Amino acid sequence: LTLNDGHRVPQLGFGVWQMDDATATQAVSQAIEAGYRAIDTAAIYGNEAGVGEGLRASGVARDELFVATKLWNADQGYDSTLRAFETSLKRLNLSYLDLYLIHWPLPRGERYVESFRALIRLQDEGLVRSIGVSNFQVHHLDRVIAEFGVVPAVNQIELHPDFSQRDLVDVHEGLGIVTEAWSPLAQGGALLTEPALEAIATRLGRTVAQVVLRWHIQQGFMVIPKSATTSRIRENFDVFGFVLSEEDMRHIGALEKGNRIGPHPADFE
Ligand SMILES: NC(=O)c1ccc[n+]([C@@H]2O[C@H](COP(=O)([O-])OP(=O)(O)OC[C@H]3O[C@@H](n4cnc5c(N)ncnc54)[C@H](OP(=O)(O)O)[C@@H]3O)[C@@H](O)[C@H]2O)c1
Repeated sequence: LTLNDGHRVPQLGFGVWQMDDATATQAVSQAIEAGYRAIDTAAIYGNEAGVGEGLRASGVARDELFVATKLWNADQGYDSTLRAFETSLKRLNLSYLDLYLIHWPLPRGERYVESFRALIRLQDEGLVRSIGVSNFQVHHLDRVIAEFGVVPAVNQIELHPDFSQRDLVDVHEGLGIVTEAWSPLAQGGALLTEPALEAIATRLGRTVAQVVLRWHIQQGFMVIPKSATTSRIRENFDVFGFVLSEEDMRHIGALEKGNRIGPHPADFE
């Protein structure tokens, strides 16, 4: 995909939430071996150092990799964001990042505005290629755009077939923001045994996880499934050899139930 700042990003990446450093090192190097080039971590995951090790262990050149991390809530604010970024970069042992995201808006204090100002500076200084946000609602997006005239390149939001966030995705499309789906497999829960998905997967000779990832990809989302299991790491990357029909896409879209798993951005402080 091409972002609104002109940078190109791999559409399918690898998430590493709930992995410790050692697991992250192993999983990231396995993921890169399987073909992934984009990795999504966050300061709060506590595994940036392990991710950095995995990147180096892969032997793949830095400029072929796309590395994203996120500013944690406690570090919001202008100076504290600059410091937190430096700490993340050191832990990852990198000289620049591809994407830096504000993890949550924390709307009460509106510190996300000053945090975004710091992201703009980091981008101006060439320390990060693209800047974006996560879990932002429409009015948070509007606020930073009005303040700075800069449209975040990405909004990483919870999104899976039973929580499809259609209204927010439409706003992203209007603004030129790429939607990045977190928990794209609904964290491996009941969605993966949904009969309608099983029927499509059986007909196509694919797994339900592959069908769900394909649904994300065909909508133009960035998508970052997580797995610490070698076979699933490979399975989740093997989604470019088939296509879902418009009818399949419609059936999957009809699974929308408003099933939010994570916190609501309006309340989460
Ligand atoms: N910005 C945010 O606020 C935010 C919040 C949450 C997540 N994220 C990001 O999004 C990434 C993905 O989200 P997530 O980790 O919450 O959930 P997810 O990717 O939807 O699901 C991960 C779970 O599904 C299982 N799984 C993976 N592939 C599978 C397959 N092919 N078949 C069956 N089960 C499978 C995994 O198990 P195993 O690992 O045991 O294989 C794991 O338990 C995170 O890692 C993180 O990078 C961001």
